Amino acid sequence: MDYPKDIMSEILYDEKQIIARAQEIAKQINKDYENKALTLVCTLKGAVFFFTELMKYVTIDCRIEFIKASSYIGNTTMTIGNVKISKFMNFEIANRDILIVEDIVDTGLTCKELFAYFNTNKCSSVNVCTLLDKKKRRQTNIEPKYVGFEIDDKFVIGYGLDYNESYRNLPCVGVINPKYIK
Ligand code: PRP
Repeated sequence: MDYPKDIMSEILYDEKQIIARAQEIAKQINKDYENKALTLVCTLKGAVFFFTELMKYVTIDCRIEFIKASSYIGNTTMTIGNVKISKFMNFEIANRDILIVEDIVDTGLTCKELFAYFNTNKCSSVNVCTLLDKKKRRQTNIEPKYVGFEIDDKFVIGYGLDYNESYRNLPCVGVINPKYIK
């Protein structure tokens, strides 16, 4: 069954715009992390699309790793301040420059937990690169180093972002049509 044609009430960024932005950010990363021990960390599941796009244009030596961070529970559009982090692989953190790649920074609670996690494991630096920044909703002092686009406080889906685990595979970012929110 295909998704309804009106699943998005508004398209915010299409694939072309996202790829162009990923290229610009990657260029900056190449400069900022030259001669550093860069590890790009993809926070599953939402960041996977942006992550793969971004890393294609990161041309400096780097490692990639994956971590699962989860805050939204069930079919709710509210953030629950209860972040679960599960590490998939035992990867080296000490003396590495960690760049967490996110699809969205909202309250910032997920990033705050991730910062605490990486810092206790003595990384050289820890920063965030996010496709979307919902700055107005921030409850922490987290400031992503790289931001694709700043967005308003609307529930967005597509390009990795879900509503109740669906719509991640839509090739653009848009606002979910409220009539599909249960
Ligand atoms: C989303 C997103 C971020 C986090 C942002 O993940 O991928 O990790 O929420 O919200 P915050 O700034 O309020 O913490 P989610 O928990 O929905 O998991 P998912 O990536 O598997 O969809």
